[in-house]
Amino acid sequence: MLPSTSYPELNPALLTGNSEVDAEHRLLLRFLERLRNVCANFDKADDCEACSRACLRGCDTVLIETLGDLLMFLVDHFRTEEDLMRTERVNLVDREICELHKEDHAAISHAVQKIAADLDPMKTATHIRQLHKLLENWVTNHIRLHDVLLIQMIGMIASHPQGVPLHAMHYMGAHPVLSAPS
Ligand SMILES: [Fe+2]
Ligand SMILES: [Fe+2]
Repeated sequence: MLPSTSYPELNPALLTGNSEVDAEHRLLLRFLERLRNVCANFDKADDCEACSRACLRGCDTVLIETLGDLLMFLVDHFRTEEDLMRTERVNLVDREICELHKEDHAAISHAVQKIAADLDPMKTATHIRQLHKLLENWVTNHIRLHDVLLIQMIGMIASHPQGVPLHAMHYMGAHPVLSAPS
């Protein structure tokens, strides 16, 4: 198990190259670690019937704290990326890519809020399992599909001040775009 002061490393394929975004993504790994530390049986237990009342209270409290911290984190993190879309003009170069990215942010946020709204102290293990799965998908799918592309597009726009050529956007898997804004 990692000591509490260490920061787990991201898979190199999930590094965007933007230090602020990557640092925030490492915090997601810390949230996954926090969740695993709440309940040793979270991936198997259907309910918390076998646990003592003290254990139930402790797990419920930690899960509520973790959800609160996660909700604050995701608001800040999504704002970081959505500000980059605007300030780096990615939304002007490819609005559709940015809209899909923001829709996925909204879906993640909604799913976390739903888990928080449905909390039941007898179902803490189930909630932890749901949240752990959600965060794993966020790390492996959202970062790979949306965040890495966002930072690649920022680099491409910066290196083509006269307009991003079509072949460059195709190379990144992005939609074709005629030119960057003047
Ligand atoms: Fe992100
Ligand atoms: Fe994102």
